Amino acid sequence: MSLNPEKAILSTRPELFDFHGVSMTHYFTDNWENVQNFQARPDDILIATYPKAGTTWVSQILDLLYFGQTCPERQNNIPIYERVPFLEIAIPSLDSGKDLADKLPTTPRLIKTHFPVQFVPKSFWEQNCRIVYVARNAKDNMVSYFHFDRMNAIQPEAGEWNNYFHRFLEGQLVFGSWYDHVNGWWKKKQNYSNIHYMFYEDMIEDTEREIDKLCSFLGLSRSAEERKMISGGVQFDKMKKNEMANYSTLPVMDFKISPFMRKGKVGDWKNHFTVAQNEVFDEDYKKKMKDPTLQFRTEI
Ligand code: PPS
Repeated sequence: MSLNPEKAILSTRPELFDFHGVSMTHYFTDNWENVQNFQARPDDILIATYPKAGTTWVSQILDLLYFGQTCPERQNNIPIYERVPFLEIAIPSLDSGKDLADKLPTTPRLIKTHFPVQFVPKSFWEQNCRIVYVARNAKDNMVSYFHFDRMNAIQPEAGEWNNYFHRFLEGQLVFGSWYDHVNGWWKKKQNYSNIHYMFYEDMIEDTEREIDKLCSFLGLSRSAEERKMISGGVQFDKMKKNEMANYSTLPVMDFKISPFMRKGKVGDWKNHFTVAQNEVFDEDYKKKMKDPTLQFRTEI
């Protein structure tokens, strides 16, 4: 696969538009029919997140859990976006995520999506696939997404922070409203038992414990030593240095503006939110997050 997208992609930012009620850009809708017709297999594992919630972290963990012993060379040779294809992405001159997923030689296939729950291709439900959903508190998620949109040529311009802040509250970002996303997936869990809903903050607090829970959900028995090794290998500083996990091989991202592995912390929002923004945010949050069973931590 060529790693060089056309020059035009690097110089023009895509427009946001309403797509079935969700803000999207063409990079994630151009292949819609093919993506919707994706044929999932019963043992596929879907990693679903709102962007910047910890997708890459959990992808790396799952890849190590499944293939770390049997196929360790994957880790050194294949970038994470090929080991765990991004189902809905379609960038001209690069293989689409759907094609990469179709071509995956592994069992199980690990597949990433940022779709809100209602966009997930129906075969995943029909095949009763296991789904790992990762959620991150809205404040840190917003900050992370802001820096990502600044540096990524396939995302709309981030613009100025205060404007971005309001767009987040209104759901005017790619893949729509964070509030709808986390709530939609949470509700789905009530009638679809094969969803493991996890939180970025819990992974920061105790990665090994979260790996244990993942193993239980996936029916994997891995020795304590192996789980400890995986947990150590996926800590932020290690992944930041790991070229096969840090996206440094993807030319659409400009790390001079902001690296993909930026801070990896809970609470960085405090360095961005003004006191006034925080008040507006908290007031608005209460109105949108009515389900008391879904709780996030903005500090640990
Ligand atoms: S994407 O583009 O949606 O797939 O991004 P995603 O991987 O979901 O999220 C990127 C943020 O996750 C942080 N990250 C980590 N934090 C802690 N430990 C590890 N190992 C780790 N790996 C990735 C990454 O730094 C981004 O968060 P911010 O806050 O911007 O640093």
